[in-house]
Amino acid sequence: MFYSIIKFIIFLTIFSFIQVDSQGIAASPFLRDGRFGVYHYDVTAMKGRQVQYPIHPMILARRSLREMNGLPISKSTLMSLFEASRWAPSYYNVQSWRYVYAMRDSPYWDKFVNALVPANQKWARHASALIVVLSNKYQIHKGEKKLVETHTFDTGASWMLMALEGTARGLVVHPMSGYDKEKIARAIGLKSDDYKIEAMIAVGNRVRLISNEKITDRNPIDKFVSEGIFKEKVYQ
Ligand SMILES: Cc1cc2nc3c(=O)[nH]c(=O)nc-3n(C[C@H](O)[C@H](O)[C@H](O)COP(=O)(O)O)c2cc1C
Repeated sequence: MFYSIIKFIIFLTIFSFIQVDSQGIAASPFLRDGRFGVYHYDVTAMKGRQVQYPIHPMILARRSLREMNGLPISKSTLMSLFEASRWAPSYYNVQSWRYVYAMRDSPYWDKFVNALVPANQKWARHASALIVVLSNKYQIHKGEKKLVETHTFDTGASWMLMALEGTARGLVVHPMSGYDKEKIARAIGLKSDDYKIEAMIAVGNRVRLISNEKITDRNPIDKFVSEGIFKEKVYQ
């Protein structure tokens, strides 16, 4: 009897760690923790990443995962990602970033998928949304068209906020440069040279609680940081 009670308690403890979300997907408490509302980023991703100095754990939790379950995300979730991207800093607050998206159940979806290189199509077709990231090279300043030298830099900051917002919600937000530029320009009806296509992004729901995809590492800080004088460093 005593052992049965112990077994029952162990069973309850394990079971309480498995939750099923509104889409019927089992999710760990790391991915879905009611205390944080929609925010439930994956702390397990951090285990394989060693830091030299302490940083916010969400930065380590962001990963370019390829596994996605093909289920939809809501339009309002996608809009929250764009909302995050909206708050990036930019040169004179010009906000050069532009985004064009396709949800997987929309008529635009196939054209977006077909623009990807085959290696990316293989996994990104299980995404919930595909996004084209563009930047506007110019601004109109005092009636004159002027080059915004930082259009790419500013757009990089904008997409990264989207990536962090997605990470905080337990989503995959995976950037890609493997696509056919002409195909995607045609798909989104881009005709002007004033815009640079910067990247595409796959946004989707994760498949498993603890991904077995390879965790990428980084160069040590002294490889890319110098004090006072720039030092050319040889990367391995
Ligand atoms: C501009 C850019 C282009 C990328 N293109 C691809 C791509 O075409 N296909 C792919 O699978 N991953 C792509 N990646 C993801 C990188 O491989 C990934 O960011 C890198 O390996 C570091 O891993 P992490 O993002 O999980 O930290 C791209 C990332 C960036 C920033």
